[in-house]
Amino acid sequence: MKYKLKDLPFSVKVLFSSYLLIIAIGYLVAMLQILFTHGLADGRFGLSIEDIVYSYYGNRSGSKLELMLNGPMKPFAPPEERFQILQWVRDGAPEDIYNNSIRKIIDNRCVKCHNSEASIPDFTRFDALKERAATDTGATIQSLVRVTHIHLFGIAFIFMFIGIIFCFAAGVSEPIKALAVAMPFIFQVTDIASWWLTKLSPHFAWLVIAGGAGMAMAFVFMWIVSMYEMWVLPLQIKRQEIRTESYLNYLRRGHD
Ligand code: HEC
Repeated sequence: MKYKLKDLPFSVKVLFSSYLLIIAIGYLVAMLQILFTHGLADGRFGLSIEDIVYSYYGNRSGSKLELMLNGPMKPFAPPEERFQILQWVRDGAPEDIYNNSIRKIIDNRCVKCHNSEASIPDFTRFDALKERAATDTGATIQSLVRVTHIHLFGIAFIFMFIGIIFCFAAGVSEPIKALAVAMPFIFQVTDIASWWLTKLSPHFAWLVIAGGAGMAMAFVFMWIVSMYEMWVLPLQIKRQEIRTESYLNYLRRGHD
């Protein structure tokens, strides 16, 4: 490279650094977003393999309604009525059976809390109940298609610019540089492939974490090297020059 980060005009350094700072803040907020959406998928705070499995593969052991009826909502209906609801859920929650028998039970046992005035789901509405009777199969194909194309375009842009800036670094050998700029793109493809694979099988959940971690590592490496060469390196060189200068002066004086 003819131009080096440390020798770039001040204005270009300011432009590059502003971009890097904004992207770093964006990255942090993206992490928070992940923590708040996927992080809570298993009901506990913090990101875990279970969160990723729940988010992409779903919790296929049953529906939310079954989960709640066998858990916290258990005391609210006597066993026979509970089994009736559970049976109905397993039969696919058909509307005719709902009208014949299930609606009565729900109205008697559940609607005193689950009504339109409450902040919890309103079970006077058939849709609200039906929705929770479906097995959770995780991310939908539509949502995966949407997030995939947004990520491919968006992240490619981000890493294109970071890569261009990093290419002006002088202290990194050409092979390492090539590896560092290619990494995010490779991990990006790994990351996205892993979402789709996890949707098919929970065994791939660890790949989601590996893809994300790899991308973050490449980001941090390029970010730190670029910022260092733009702002810290020139100062160090300057200090070295001053030191050399004063040493030379000392020698000259000595010889006078
Ligand atoms: C005493 C009030 C009360 C009664 C009665 C009650 N629930 Fe709930 N239910 C709640 C509260 C509060 C929540 C939200 C807290 C939670 O998720 O643990 C909830 C959450 C749920 C959820 C999860 C909704 C979601 O998607 O987050 C389901 C499903 C549910 N109840 C089913 C039932 C059924 C079926 C009945 C009747 C057999 C019932 N509940 C009776 C208070 C009640």
